[in-house]
Amino acid sequence: MSELFATADAHPNIAFIKYWGNVNDQLKISLNGSISMNLDGLTTRTSVRFDSSLDSDKLEINDQPASPAANQRVTDHLDLIRNMAKLNQAAHVISHSNFPIGSGIASSASAFAALSLAGSKAAGLDLDIIELSRLARRGSGSACRSIPDGITEWHAGTTDEQSFADQLVPLDYWELVDCLIIINEKHKSVSSSDGHRISKTSPIQPLRIMGSARRFELCHNAILNRDFQSFSDVVEHDSNLMHSVMCTSMPSLVYLTKSSFEVIHAVLELRSKAVEACYTIDAGPNVHVITIKHQLDTVRQYLQQIPGILRVVSAPVGNGARLIN
Ligand code: DP6
Repeated sequence: MSELFATADAHPNIAFIKYWGNVNDQLKISLNGSISMNLDGLTTRTSVRFDSSLDSDKLEINDQPASPAANQRVTDHLDLIRNMAKLNQAAHVISHSNFPIGSGIASSASAFAALSLAGSKAAGLDLDIIELSRLARRGSGSACRSIPDGITEWHAGTTDEQSFADQLVPLDYWELVDCLIIINEKHKSVSSSDGHRISKTSPIQPLRIMGSARRFELCHNAILNRDFQSFSDVVEHDSNLMHSVMCTSMPSLVYLTKSSFEVIHAVLELRSKAVEACYTIDAGPNVHVITIKHQLDTVRQYLQQIPGILRVVSAPVGNGARLIN
């Protein structure tokens, strides 16, 4: 019998049009479509070994045994894979990320994208990109966008079959770079999953959803046309809308700090000097400043002097999930 083992790499992604709120929290079918780029250089590598000598699944994250909650989330995901492959062995899962996890850098996206590819391969399945994207979505919604290469779109759909991501443009279509301004590397106190659940308590959420198809289309076209002005207008607007929902939810979620706002103002100043840069922020204080490769040095030098910044990491557009031999 062949060895039930595989390893995969995946990158996190930064959303230009955000996913915030589900039609179905259990299946993670989003209320709106979203668009993101994979972040090259930030990587989660995950190995999965199904092993008949284990009584239960065992998960190690960055050389430490994982918390019971993280273990349960991985077991639930492996159960999906075991059902598909008609397998009943427990698995040993080892995962390493080379960037801070749980601080609004979409570590669950790279983690579940890598787990879906390594786990399904180890179980003997040979899933295509759409099937893998649907599987990754069940672990963490944004993970479905880390499966295809480049800049990807999650078509929200209304059923499990319809809800998956595919490629909008390949890696080299537009030389976007995420200049990621790290303000805090600690694990966030409220998870995205809890945030999705309470988003319905915000009176702003229905308005955000009402305009989401239009913003998706504007962003899609701005990327196809490499039109940075239209792109930055819609990306900042969409991020601001999501944070408005967050801070008007009950209980309120306020992820942005004083330093986040200082970076936002500095980005606006850069733009007033005709530098192509715009900001977008996920569920954490760290600010993703999207720029174009030839302006990265200018953007970086301007922003890295702001007090309160821990470090700056830059990431061009990356591949989707990959098997490692
Ligand atoms: C703010 O995919 O982390 O980063 O599906 O519950 O795992 P779960 O949530 P997650 O939510 C990501 C939210 C976001 C916006 C985005 O990436 O679109």
